[in-house]
Amino acid sequence: MNKNNKMDVKIETKKGSMDEWPEPIVRVQSLAESNLSSLPDRYIKPASLRPTTTEDAPAATNIPIIDLEGLFSEEGLSDDVIMARISEACRGWGFFQVVNHGVKPELMDAARENWREFFHLPVNAKETYSNSPRTYEGYGSRLGVEKGASLDWSDYYFLHLLPHHLKDFNKWPSFPPTIREVIDEYGEEIVKLSGRIMRVLSTNLGLKEDKFQEAFGGENIGACLRVNYYPKCPRPELALGLSPHSDPGGMTILLPDDQVFGLQVRKDDTWITVKPNPHAFIVNIGDQIQILSNSAYKSVEHRVIVNSDKERVSLAFFYNPKSDIPIQPLQELVSTHNPPLYPPMTFDQYRLFIRTQGPQGKSHVESHISPR
Ligand code: OGA
Ligand code: NI
Repeated sequence: MNKNNKMDVKIETKKGSMDEWPEPIVRVQSLAESNLSSLPDRYIKPASLRPTTTEDAPAATNIPIIDLEGLFSEEGLSDDVIMARISEACRGWGFFQVVNHGVKPELMDAARENWREFFHLPVNAKETYSNSPRTYEGYGSRLGVEKGASLDWSDYYFLHLLPHHLKDFNKWPSFPPTIREVIDEYGEEIVKLSGRIMRVLSTNLGLKEDKFQEAFGGENIGACLRVNYYPKCPRPELALGLSPHSDPGGMTILLPDDQVFGLQVRKDDTWITVKPNPHAFIVNIGDQIQILSNSAYKSVEHRVIVNSDKERVSLAFFYNPKSDIPIQPLQELVSTHNPPLYPPMTFDQYRLFIRTQGPQGKSHVESHISPR
């Protein structure tokens, strides 16, 4: 598994196939609007991957909900109870919701609703932003460049916020007229929130609070936004909005749809449907933080289910290390008894995997483990 995956990545890039998709792109929105009586084969998952239920699961289990009120005070990170809850969530679930995080609810709603309006444009109006697998920037409908691969029931928009030289307004939508300004402000707020959460994550491992940030390249971190649009699906029990994957980057701050469930997180062998609190963000550990923490924190597999009567819009913000510095377990966290689990690799190299292979569960971070 390990060797083959790495080889495939190399072959794909040598062939130069990253400049174009392996087959014509079909917008899921177009399929959804064409009143299909059945689901096209490409979107039908094998029985073992199909969602067990498309109903909202009973509200018995949920990922931890953590109130951040008062945590970021002038005296530093002072609340031991909140800190401990975050620590537990990072080690056990890899996922948690935060409320009272300091981002204005109006800004959160404006960001999501501007994007909803954008996705409601006719498909033709969005084709000018059509993306390629080299940078993924723009309007897209698949992840991965393997010809004939199984496809997910979603379209998306991907853009860079940081570093500054990659932020290019021309690659952002210009409709609705407020969208660029709103995304820009939203991005700045989420970068700030992410920086604060990074301090919590470092401190909770007994490190100095800016340790993770330094390891990410200090001011030179990367930040990007992937807006997911999940149209109504005629056969939701056969499809997935997004196949199981772990996020390749550092940390993800997700703004879910306020009306429609869909995100499921793997807990042991079951899929837990996340019930978002009003105006909460869903935070999750990505592969790069699992690697830096030498697996003290877990980058957990998740997926998205779809349904037949409501579309869903979500904004996934990715906080990533500077793309060309090697990421490996922090020295402070390894010892002879706890040797480093992963060899160094830059994020540029690392993310080629998901960019070429598409979502593949946790196979990438697992195959990245150092040989023993
Ligand atoms: C992602 C993701 C979840 C969602 O974009 O990586 O996991 O709820 N999204 O859309
Ligand atoms: Ni994800």
